[in-house]
Amino acid sequence: MEETTLVLIKPGGVGRNLIGEITRRIEARQLRVSGLKLVRAERGTVEQHYDEHRERPFFKDVCDYLTSGPIVAMAVTGTNAVKAIRTMMGATNPLEATPGTVRGDLALTIDDNLTHSSSDPEAAARELALWFPEGTV
Ligand code: CDP
Ligand code: MG
Repeated sequence: MEETTLVLIKPGGVGRNLIGEITRRIEARQLRVSGLKLVRAERGTVEQHYDEHRERPFFKDVCDYLTSGPIVAMAVTGTNAVKAIRTMMGATNPLEATPGTVRGDLALTIDDNLTHSSSDPEAAARELALWFPEGTV
């Protein structure tokens, strides 16, 4: 089924010049970039994005991190895009991420795990509305 999902390249990924490497992997998988921008995220946007984690101990740190520098917001469209992208990014903790995944190949610590990707189609719809209120292409 054709789906659209959200990918964020976090400040560490942008800072390490990994925009191209991460985007290359997505495109090589035959998924289509259907929205793309480099932004300095507003605190409110990031807090809404991570609303499900509001009570978790890492909430403040992850919001500080996401607003610490430019991030890439990307909409990605294709067959089963939500699961395909999640699997491609790897486990949240890079130490547990399989080699071959973005986190398993390029990240080492959970607080700098390079990317966000939507966890399921409902989250994708909510997150795309937040980051791409103008819609995708
Ligand atoms: O990003 P993902 O969906 O894989 O993980 P999450 O459980 O939804 O957590 C969101 C983000 O919070 C993670 O990607 C980490 O950047 C951060 N986090 C953290 O710093 N420490 C944790 N123990 C859990 C999450
Ligand atoms: Mg998540």
